[in-house]
Amino acid sequence: MLSSLVVLSLLGSSMARTSVDPMSLFKRISSSCGTSGPLSCYNTTAVDTCCTEYPGGLILQTQFWDTDVADSPADSWTIHGLWPDNCDGTYTEDCDPSRDYTNITALLTTQNATSTLDYMEQYWLNDDGTSQELWEHEWATHGTCYSTLEPSCLPSGSPAGAEAVAFFETVVRLFQTLPTYTWLAEAGITPTSDSTFTLEELLSALEAGSGGYTPALSCDDGALDEISWYFNLRGSIIDGEFVAINSPESSDCPTTGIQYLPKESS
Ligand SMILES: *[C@@H]1O[C@H](CO)[C@@H](O)[C@H](O)[C@H]1NC(C)=O
Ligand SMILES: *[C@@H]1O[C@H](CO)[C@@H](O)[C@H](O)[C@H]1NC(C)=O
Ligand SMILES: *[C@@H]1O[C@H](CO)[C@@H](O)[C@H](O)[C@H]1NC(C)=O
Repeated sequence: MLSSLVVLSLLGSSMARTSVDPMSLFKRISSSCGTSGPLSCYNTTAVDTCCTEYPGGLILQTQFWDTDVADSPADSWTIHGLWPDNCDGTYTEDCDPSRDYTNITALLTTQNATSTLDYMEQYWLNDDGTSQELWEHEWATHGTCYSTLEPSCLPSGSPAGAEAVAFFETVVRLFQTLPTYTWLAEAGITPTSDSTFTLEELLSALEAGSGGYTPALSCDDGALDEISWYFNLRGSIIDGEFVAINSPESSDCPTTGIQYLPKESS
């Protein structure tokens, strides 16, 4: 089963899909875990939870298609987050309120992650408040639950909040390997108010673009509004390898008549 999986190395050739200079997002801390340990959700004996994500080893990169957010890019979905589900699909949230940072911008700036911050300002947007509030929420709700980002797992001498900086850098890099808009467009599927799509058309396009992986699509009132791409992880969230898998969940969109509406600002 594992042999059929494709490894999306974060620093590997998958970066070629984007126009962002990978070196500008180069990590400042490393985990020293490597990527030879067990794949998350596949350990059979007790593992070092600094180097194998546990229990949240089923990882979702979620993206929004919000049509009503000011200055949202017309030709890209935007980041919702990176969520650590348990391997059976249940999940925990808000795992360490003592690390609910409210200074995300300052953390990224002082830890030299300004190119990540610039990218977040363009592609990680809140449809209901400031982007900063969404980043804080995503970190506090989901980011604090990653075992591999426990402060005790970080290199000694790491500055306060370094694990949150690593989280934001990893979310941005993984998102850049998942150009949902482009994959749909390559199949001739672009936002329109004039026609609708079937679920099969949408999923086929995304499977073709991603190299054969089925995401989960969500709809609001029959219109596409969110996607989840699923992974297991080898190594740490800081610098591990995300291994793409099919969504264990079905899409919640209707099978036909799905709208993919243009953004209002475009
Ligand atoms: C996986 O590793 C964790 C953490 O060491 C351990 O608690 C758990 O029992 C292991 N899972 C299995 C199925 O052995
Ligand atoms: C951010 O806030 C945390 C506490 O929540 C603090 O420990 C850290 O020093 C702050 N960092 C910056 C750069 O403001
Ligand atoms: C950020 O860059 C400055 C200047 O190059 C350096 O002194 C500092 O150690 C860096 N901080 C981190 C957390 O990498």
